[in-house]
Amino acid sequence: MKDLINRGKEVFMNTYSQFPLVIEKGDGVYVYDSKGNKYLDFVAGIAVNSLGYNNEKLVKALKNQLNKLTHCSNLYWNEPAIEAAELLKKYSTLDKVFFCNSGAEAVEGSLKLARKYAKKYLGNNKTEIITMKNSFHGRTFGAVTATGQTKYQKGLGPLLPGIKYCEFNNIKSLEDTIDDKTCAVLVEPIQGEGGIKPADVEYLKKVRKLCDKNNLILIFDEVQCGIGRTGEIFAYQHYNVKPDIVALAKGLGGGVPIGAILANEKAASGFCPGDHASTFGGNPLVCSAAKVVIEEISDPQYLENIKKQGKYLTKKLNELKSKYKMILDVRGHGLMQGMEMNMPVKEIILECMDKGLLLVGSGERIIRFVPPLIIQKKEIDSAIKILEDVILRVKYLND
Ligand SMILES: Cc1ncc(COP(=O)(O)O)c(C=O)c1O
Repeated sequence: MKDLINRGKEVFMNTYSQFPLVIEKGDGVYVYDSKGNKYLDFVAGIAVNSLGYNNEKLVKALKNQLNKLTHCSNLYWNEPAIEAAELLKKYSTLDKVFFCNSGAEAVEGSLKLARKYAKKYLGNNKTEIITMKNSFHGRTFGAVTATGQTKYQKGLGPLLPGIKYCEFNNIKSLEDTIDDKTCAVLVEPIQGEGGIKPADVEYLKKVRKLCDKNNLILIFDEVQCGIGRTGEIFAYQHYNVKPDIVALAKGLGGGVPIGAILANEKAASGFCPGDHASTFGGNPLVCSAAKVVIEEISDPQYLENIKKQGKYLTKKLNELKSKYKMILDVRGHGLMQGMEMNMPVKEIILECMDKGLLLVGSGERIIRFVPPLIIQKKEIDSAIKILEDVILRVKYLND
């Protein structure tokens, strides 16, 4: 394993701080390293492998599609893309879909659409977009500017002009930031990289009202929290608030790279032919996977299990919190949970990995739990057992 990692270090740019683990294959909620060691996976490729590994239906659909057609460009139509888009329309409150390849690209396209809409209908002056402090929207220039955390922007300036930030979960802050140049508001219903922080229900409702009052496009970034992760197909469905645009990616392809912009008729009318494009976007291979993912997670029983297991995970994490003072908070929705600690969590995560449990941080002091959506009670019990053993050891060392 060390040899392979050293070879990787020779050839990759120095962008990631990677765990010393080479993953070779996966099955269900487990992955295996190149020595055959088994790990219970509460990372799921960072909230991507929604159906788990080696899912029979997903593999079959991908193999079938590979045998037929992988790519044909958007010069032509393809059936898997149309079917996947129809499903997204069916299960959302939105009307039109644009497929792309990643979360950043979905956000980037959403920002473009909002500006295009405003220019077309509201005049040249309406160009500003308000995003939230502590948010994360991706690494392209538009998305990283929209990201309300300076650590991701260091050394990149000048950033995209016309982006303003306000406090998340603070309606007064948004109210004070809106002016006559504002055209859109971008918000994650649950901040993911910002430490698993759900928006308050009343807050999101008021955001919608403010957008309506000021004629602003409301964009939800559901790249991490969407596609079943919270127990509803879209996180916004918990809030009873309808966005104008939603950005999706991660779990949508169950492991293959696909992103999507969903928009209602009104917002979508901002784009005309030639305004936006993506060579790979909506190719039949990735869309055949997205179709399976949406069909699976839209099954009420599937969503019910996510809700049930999400509640169980929350309960078990809260039990740990009541036992150990070093745990400050447990929060999240469904199978997107965060546990805030009074110390950096990297060592805990590394020790859990050594004991066969994969976890990932969200910020320095928060452990994130985003397992495949097929996770069951006994696997949650196993994860909690490993985590508690590690916490006990860390506590012993610190006492
Ligand atoms: C909420 C949110 N938006 C956008 C992104 C960017 O997605 P990608 O890494 O696919 O570009 C992420 C990635 O973590 C995310 O969590």
